[in-house]
Amino acid sequence: MTTRKSRVLIIGAGAAGIAAATRLLAGGIDNVVMLEAEDRIGGRIHSVGFDGSLVDLGAEWCHGEKGNIVFDMVKHLNLLEKSFHDYTNDTFCISDGTIIKNSMKDLIELADDIFYNGTASGDVGDTLGDYFNHEYKKRVGDMFPENRDRSNMTEMLLDWFHKSYLDLVPAKTWFEVSMMGHRRYKKCEGYLYWQWKKKGYLTILHVLMKKNPDAAQQLPIDDKILLNKEVNRIEWDRDDGVIVGCSDGSWYQTDHVIVTVSLGVLKSLGHLFTPKLPLFKQDAINLIGMGTVAKILLKFPVKWWPDDVAGFSFLWTKTDRNNLLKEFPYGPSDHGKSWLEDIYGFYVVDSHPTVLLGWNVGKMVEQVEHLADHILIEGCIFLLKKFLGHRYNVTYPNGLLRSKWKTNPHFNGSYAYQSLEAERRNVSREDLERPVCDSDGKPVLLFAGEATHSKFYATVHGAIETGFNEADRILEIYKNN
Ligand SMILES: Cc1cc2nc3c(=O)[nH]c(=O)nc-3n(C[C@H](O)[C@H](O)[C@H](O)COP(=O)(O)OP(=O)(O)OC[C@H]3O[C@@H](n4cnc5c(N)ncnc54)[C@H](O)[C@@H]3O)c2cc1C
Ligand SMILES: *[C@@H]1O[C@H](CO)[C@@H](O)[C@H](O)[C@H]1NC(C)=O
Ligand SMILES: *[C@@H]1O[C@H](CO)[C@@H](O)[C@H](O)[C@H]1NC(C)=O
Ligand SMILES: *[C@@H]1O[C@H](CO)[C@@H](O)[C@H](O)[C@H]1NC(C)=O
Ligand SMILES: *[C@@H]1O[C@H](CO)[C@@H](O)[C@H](O)[C@H]1NC(C)=O
Ligand SMILES: *[C@@H]1O[C@H](CO)[C@@H](O)[C@H](O)[C@H]1NC(C)=O
Ligand SMILES: *[C@@H]1O[C@H](CO)[C@@H](O)[C@H](O)[C@H]1NC(C)=O
Repeated sequence: MTTRKSRVLIIGAGAAGIAAATRLLAGGIDNVVMLEAEDRIGGRIHSVGFDGSLVDLGAEWCHGEKGNIVFDMVKHLNLLEKSFHDYTNDTFCISDGTIIKNSMKDLIELADDIFYNGTASGDVGDTLGDYFNHEYKKRVGDMFPENRDRSNMTEMLLDWFHKSYLDLVPAKTWFEVSMMGHRRYKKCEGYLYWQWKKKGYLTILHVLMKKNPDAAQQLPIDDKILLNKEVNRIEWDRDDGVIVGCSDGSWYQTDHVIVTVSLGVLKSLGHLFTPKLPLFKQDAINLIGMGTVAKILLKFPVKWWPDDVAGFSFLWTKTDRNNLLKEFPYGPSDHGKSWLEDIYGFYVVDSHPTVLLGWNVGKMVEQVEHLADHILIEGCIFLLKKFLGHRYNVTYPNGLLRSKWKTNPHFNGSYAYQSLEAERRNVSREDLERPVCDSDGKPVLLFAGEATHSKFYATVHGAIETGFNEADRILEIYKNN
């Protein structure tokens, strides 16, 4: 029943898997098989057609320049362009109808400095939320000692910062994020929102495979990728190598497996490995955090917002927040808080002139993924009309695209974050990354993917580096043969 024998078998054809495969091929190991559960490659890179344009349901921007492997690979190819998106210059809207333009820059820079440059006390119990609240209140107080209006605004903005940062650390709240762990997260210096000139983040896969810039140079990878192959069994400590089984009944024999499935998938597949994984690996899988954010893309028949607006960020007054569930009672709520509060703004999309992108974060994302399309749309329109209806002719959308990263069992979440439990138990991403050896001491299970990167987790450039690293580890073993 074994169909194919290989030197290396890669599970998952996302950024990490494709990176590993291309590195192996370039290094002279071409006996490679890739098994991908979906009917497409790319994983959490998912550029899809929407009314004639490509939009991204997963990764969208190349974040930063210095030390960013994606940026380095493409900077001479003229594939990137700065985004229209500039979150330090968004239009902020208050639920009472006030609209504020271009005056939040100082506060946003202050918040970013706390978020990225924070230096916590070193107590394993410190959370990002406690740290941020404390620093923010202190430094905002220093900044605006007299200005009452401004300090009222800072309160509403603090709530917004919480939500917008949950996009980067996708826990349910920032009180679940370890400050010590979070400090290991590094952003790359330089411009943070490079976009792919209407061609989607998918472009990077073609660059990795050398289809781009010159299709004639393409690596012989297409016949190595098998789609619709959902792995459900890995027997890794046998005399005849590793046996990998799929849900369609097919089996593959190999010397090394590179596992690139998301941390969410690893958490849900405890039964995948025979024998069970060693304890350090189980702990890392169970304790490191995997969260979810969702993208809601609404397409409108006409563009009803002005050209110079990059997006609308929503701030709630206490009164409006308290009335929200009465005004819009549909969909999930949590302790009296409506799911709509967790859609923290709508932003223009570089690749499509009449689409707005809403970000949904926090505790209720999974429930929102289960909401019917029409309720989701009604909710979004309620929000847009509430914040902007008196100023603009908010129309009804004629198209919806939404991500469902949590509900799809091949992802089970959007990306990883640094949980308090992992920090308390001294579990690190190195534990997630470290290979598992068979009883002969041969590294048979290697782990790559976004979550295994010690400082660039939750990004494509992080995922690609981990794929390269694991391929290099294997190339090193065979370099003298
Ligand atoms: C909404 C969203 C927005 C994002 N925005 C950005 C951004 O702007 N910039 C950025 O740098 N990063 C962004 N990211 C993060 C980035 O997309 C990921 O870090 C990266 O794509 C992960 O790549 P990976 O190879 O580690 O995992 P994946 O892409 O998840 O690849 C793993 C593959 O394994 C497959 N698989 C799963 N289970 C099985 C199985 N049982 N058998 C076989 N195959 C299986 C999956 O289908 C998948 O294709 C975003 C992610 C999301 C979800
Ligand atoms: C972090 O600190 C460095 C050095 O002081 C500074 O240049 C940088 O702008 C800060 N980062 C942010 C996001 O504020
Ligand atoms: C902010 O955006 C406005 C247009 O909305 C633009 O005129 C202005 O130059 C921008 N400011 C900065 C600092 O980017
Ligand atoms: C801001 O000020 C207004 C009016 O003074 C008040 O009603 C409101 O509760 C304050 N705070 C917030 C977050 O709305
Ligand atoms: C909104 O629509 C009304 C009626 O159709 C029109 O009179 C008005 O000019 C429009 N306003 C804007 C800002 O487009
Ligand atoms: C996601 O993982 C959790 C365990 O962490 C599991 O209970 C759940 O069923 C998984 N969901 C999907 C859609 O696979
Ligand atoms: C945490 O683990 C590392 C190795 O992963 C070890 O070097 C270190 O001593 C441990 N720290 C504590 C406090 O246990």
